[in-house]
Amino acid sequence: MKATPARHTDGAINEDLLKQLAYNEKMAELGRISTGVVHELNAPLSVIVSASQLILREESVPEFVREMVERIGSEAQRLSQLTRGLLNFSRHEESISEVDVNLTIDFVLDFLRYEAARRAVSLLRVLDYRLPTVSMDGNVLKQIMLNIIMNALQAMEADGGIVQVESCSRNSAELSIIISDTGPGIAAESLERIFEPYFTTKKRGEGTGLGLFVTKELVENVGGSIEVSSTVGAGTTFTLTFPVTES
Ligand SMILES: Nc1ncnc2c1ncn2[C@@H]1O[C@H](COP(=O)(O)OP(=O)(O)O)[C@@H](O)[C@H]1O
Ligand SMILES: [Mg+2]
Repeated sequence: MKATPARHTDGAINEDLLKQLAYNEKMAELGRISTGVVHELNAPLSVIVSASQLILREESVPEFVREMVERIGSEAQRLSQLTRGLLNFSRHEESISEVDVNLTIDFVLDFLRYEAARRAVSLLRVLDYRLPTVSMDGNVLKQIMLNIIMNALQAMEADGGIVQVESCSRNSAELSIIISDTGPGIAAESLERIFEPYFTTKKRGEGTGLGLFVTKELVENVGGSIEVSSTVGAGTTFTLTFPVTES
C-alpha cells in the first residue's frame, strides 16, 4: 500500500528541517572554532605591530625598507582591530549600554567590506553626526544590521550595485537606520512573507529563512520597529526605528 500523501509530506518536511538544522549546527560549531582561531591570531599580530614600530625607530633604515615596514605595520594594525572587533562581537553575554549607532554602522560596514567587494557592491554611508544614543546591547545592533546588509549583498550577487546605510533622527524620541539596496527587489507575494520563520528563496546552504524573523524579534525586543518597501527591478529599503534614550 502506498503511503498517504499527508504522511509523505510530513516526512519530507522533517527531512528538510533536519538537513537545515544540521547545517545550522555545523555553521555554529564552525563559528565557535573560528573564534578560537581569531583569538590565536591576536598575539602574533601584536608582535608584528610592535616589531614594525621598533624597526621604524631606528635611524639607519633605508627609505625603501621604511616604506615596506610601515605598510606591514599598518596592515597588521588593521587586522588586529578587526580580530578584536570580531571577538567582541562573538561574546554571548548581554551587555546593555548607550550605543553609538554611527560607530556600530562603521564596524559593520568595515566588517562587510570584503563581502561587498567580491560582489562588486559599493557601500555608501550617509550619517547624521548629532545622533542620540540608543540604550541596547551593541552586539545585537550589529547582528541586526549584518543580517539585513548580508541579504542585500546576496541579492546583488549577479550584477553588483549599491548598498546605502543612512542614520538619522527625525525627532527627539526616535532614531532611524535606513538600509537601501539597488538589487532585484522582492516580489509582492514574497514581500508579505519575508519575516516568517523558514521563508527563504535561497538554495539550501545559502539561507535558512531565519534571518529576518530573528532580526524583527531583536528589533521589537528593544521597542523598535522594522519596515520594508521594495520595487522589483529597482531595489529594497529596510527602515529600522529605535526609541532614543531620554536625556
Ligand atoms: N535586500 C533584499 N533583496 C531581495 N530579497 C531579499 C532582501 N532581503 C531579504 N530578501 C528575501 O527575503 C528572504 C528571507 O530573508 P532571511 O529571513 O534573511 O532568510 P535567508 O537570507 O536565509 O533566505 C530571502 O530569501 C530573500 O528572498
Ligand atoms: Mg538572510
